[in-house]
Amino acid sequence: MTDLLTRLGGLAYGGDYNPEQWPPEVQAEDMALMREAGVNLVTLGIFSWAMVEPEPGRYDWAWFDRVLDLLAENGIAVCLATMTASPPPWLARAHPETLPVRADGTVLGPGARQHFTPSSPVYRRYATRLVERLAIRYGAHPALAAWHVGNEYGCHVAESYGEVDAVAFRAWLRDRYGDLGALNAAWSTAFWSQRYGAWEEIEPPRAAPTFGNPAQRLDFRRFSSDALLACYRAERGVLRRVTPDVPVTTNFFPLGNPALDLHAWAAEEDVVSYDSYPDPADPEAHVAAAYAYDLMRSLKGGAPWLLLEQAPSAVNWRVVNRPKAPGRMRLGSWQAVARGADAVLFFQWRASRGGAEKFHSAMVPHAGPQSRTFAEVRELGRELAGSAELAGTRVLADAALVLDWPSWWALEQPSHPSGRLRQMGTNLAHYAPLWRAGVTCDVVRPGSDLSRYRLVVVPNLYLVSAADAENLTSYVRDGGHLVVSFFSGVVDEQDRIHAGGAPGPLAEVLGLHVTEFWPLAKGEHVDLAEPGTGWLGEGAARGTLWSEAPRLEGALALATFASGGPSGHAAITRHPYGEGVAYYLATRPDPATMRTFLDQVCAAASVHPAVSGLPDDAEAVIREATDGTRYVITLDHATADVRIDRA
Ligand code: GAL
Repeated sequence: MTDLLTRLGGLAYGGDYNPEQWPPEVQAEDMALMREAGVNLVTLGIFSWAMVEPEPGRYDWAWFDRVLDLLAENGIAVCLATMTASPPPWLARAHPETLPVRADGTVLGPGARQHFTPSSPVYRRYATRLVERLAIRYGAHPALAAWHVGNEYGCHVAESYGEVDAVAFRAWLRDRYGDLGALNAAWSTAFWSQRYGAWEEIEPPRAAPTFGNPAQRLDFRRFSSDALLACYRAERGVLRRVTPDVPVTTNFFPLGNPALDLHAWAAEEDVVSYDSYPDPADPEAHVAAAYAYDLMRSLKGGAPWLLLEQAPSAVNWRVVNRPKAPGRMRLGSWQAVARGADAVLFFQWRASRGGAEKFHSAMVPHAGPQSRTFAEVRELGRELAGSAELAGTRVLADAALVLDWPSWWALEQPSHPSGRLRQMGTNLAHYAPLWRAGVTCDVVRPGSDLSRYRLVVVPNLYLVSAADAENLTSYVRDGGHLVVSFFSGVVDEQDRIHAGGAPGPLAEVLGLHVTEFWPLAKGEHVDLAEPGTGWLGEGAARGTLWSEAPRLEGALALATFASGGPSGHAAITRHPYGEGVAYYLATRPDPATMRTFLDQVCAAASVHPAVSGLPDDAEAVIREATDGTRYVITLDHATADVRIDRA
């Protein structure tokens, strides 16, 4: 990563380059326009497999050699794709068992992309063979700066339920449990006569008459993330062997679909890459984008990450695809840089003339360089080139939110007290007030070292292991401020209810037990009252989405339910524990009340905004260089203003 940035001499700027979609003579204009736009990095070859290997084992490298040479001659570095995200049609024809299968048995065929199951040894064999050829051929090419493995693993096909997958799932389970007795216990198979007597009886959780076994489904999600990761690792293994000094990454697709356990994935990358597509029609999209960027930075302990894709303007895959208004692409790009990105790349360089993405915007639109989009692209390239000193600097954050994939997977299973509880909505309900208050947050796993944070917020941790609960508990014992929201600490790693019920192993630090859940219907709310504590602020305070009845065992009520099922019970509590304090929310306060509450928690924890006094729709983030130089990046989403100050 450092080598990549040293080589570029600053922030990376560019996009996906798919020259095979155009006649070769366009490439000369591409080079001239790239130079004009300040492009210094392109990701190349993402969907080129069928063009470089038109028949099994027959390669056509000549055209690809020319493109790489041309880029090198023009001083443009290449993040070279391994080309394995879309196998050529010949692979499906020769080996239909490489195709993915849905839970209902539908086989997904070629003609789009990502039509492979990661568990297919045949797919892996062909993929790694190609990767080896690529690495040998281009490993010493002057344009090569990094490897881009696959493309958005799992974005279209996160799970596959075929025979090949069943075999791999069983092997994964044997590895995890060792013997069937342990598996039967972990999956609670005494329920509904599900006990397994032989490994061969176990199948992926295919379409079934009613609710499937939740522990089986949870393990299948773990397995599916691991199966994709195994594909990535197989390719990376080849790359490491042939080109040990070239950094390796793969681009994560937009948060929302939790297919991959990004904590496990990021550990296998040299640098984290993310694709970001905030909806220009959504007035809150920049808040969710900020959350995603904070997570990307945190996945590798605060190291700079690469924004590997974003749209210069409109996408093609929403129902209505709005362009980005003037200035918004610049603002969104700077938002990523403010939150730790060292690269701003787009999908894609030149707009496609044919294919499913011909209406997706590009740096060079169909209308050519005489366009608003290209003018903005050129201007941004100039700005980023002038901000080279930001590369490698790190974001300062005193607060963190907790996120855990297995818990997310388990939370969103069916047959729960409420189907309205969604992990990302919950995360953002806690993140948005902190964002509005100007507080920079990392997003970390529950078992990570929390000692550097003054405040840790757990929006929801339905599934918690004893070790993670102990980590959160000792964080408070040692002086930390912890906020935990409802329906946390409910189950263990196998989705079995913790003894004594929620919040399970978090009961000690929170000083309470939950005796009843009272989830709320859409539009329903409960009134909150406070016994003169001042924690709710002015005006009516309401709880939404959920309510529950805690039994206090040391915690004190900061607010109580004044209506609804748990009327009279504590709704918000505070529990001094060891050197620190733990707060609990037994409901989702309305946004204003949530903000009032979190403002007070921040004040108590001495957590301050990076810059105080900013309007609510502005954000400021500080990046710090190793020599202590600080840069304050201030972005106003109301006016689309961007400022970068040395502080
Ligand atoms: C990404 C993908 C790109 C392109 C883009 C369009 O998910 O990696 O190849 O399809 O979306 O928005």
